[in-house]
Amino acid sequence: MNYTQNTYLEMIEAALAQYIYPVNDGQALVADAMRYSIQNGGKRIRPMLTLEFCRVCGGNPQFALPFACAVEMIHTYSLIHDDLPCMDDDDLRRGKPSCHKQFGESYALLAGDGLLTLAFETLTKATDVAPSDIVRAVRVLSDLAGVNGMIGGQVIDLLSEEKQVDYSTLHCIDKLKTGALIKSAALLGCIAAGVQDETILSAAKTYAENIGFAFQVVDDILDVTSDTATLGKPVGSDEKNAKSTFVSLLGLEACKTLADKLTADAVQALSAIPNNTEFLETLANQLAVRQK
Ligand code: IPE
Ligand code: IPE
Ligand code: MG
Ligand code: MG
Ligand code: MG
Repeated sequence: MNYTQNTYLEMIEAALAQYIYPVNDGQALVADAMRYSIQNGGKRIRPMLTLEFCRVCGGNPQFALPFACAVEMIHTYSLIHDDLPCMDDDDLRRGKPSCHKQFGESYALLAGDGLLTLAFETLTKATDVAPSDIVRAVRVLSDLAGVNGMIGGQVIDLLSEEKQVDYSTLHCIDKLKTGALIKSAALLGCIAAGVQDETILSAAKTYAENIGFAFQVVDDILDVTSDTATLGKPVGSDEKNAKSTFVSLLGLEACKTLADKLTADAVQALSAIPNNTEFLETLANQLAVRQK
């Protein structure tokens, strides 16, 4: 089968719809909030990476769907919490009122918690993946989404508000708050295909680290250059919160150059993978010039 971005998007949407299952009346509201936030048009970059890394590693992308959806659940929970008044305090997400605007802060908090928990339940539904590889996936995802990964990045991001921080601190923020989950997406694809070969795992890591860093640099650029209708989230959020970003440190032009350099490094890393990596190369290049 020839897998395109559209094929993957259809697979991901269908699987996500199925994983948030109906619940009893008592829990229905929080399940509604979870569905509202996850089923509304994110770009699905992370789950797509999981499926394609599985394919380039010789696996069946269908088998990796639970892993792909788990990563998207973690990502969506991180966005729900990131938008809360105690964090970035943003009222719009994916073109609709943020979860807390629609359902209130308590339910938004619980919907995020629900998605975080459901992500790990969903990993265990990868019945076509060897149990030992599901255990590997749990380790990788919990490590990269946790205090030494994404959460750690969110903490340093908060600590750096209203401060002038240096390049290495900004790199650390971007590597962790955004890069870590993107890296987990790529690695979970390799793991779903049963990959043990360190050369392949290391190529996947290098590719994902570079596109992950570039992804946040571009996110920061778009916060300044785009408009709310295109992005589906408020522009100017970083300035409003006095965030430290590469745009505030280096300026827009240097940021674009940095994103291009990181993208080239990502593409370079793919040469260690023996199968056809054109999809991943195209994706990296698209992300560097994305408008949303
Ligand atoms: C937004 O991620 C948050 C960042 C980590 C920069 P995306 O740009 O992937 O958001 P969606 O999933 O498409 O809404
Ligand atoms: C978000 O970074 C990173 C995580 C949610 C982990 P941002 O705060 O820049 O993301 P947006 O711009 O709100 O999507
Ligand atoms: Mg934030
Ligand atoms: Mg934010
Ligand atoms: Mg942002």
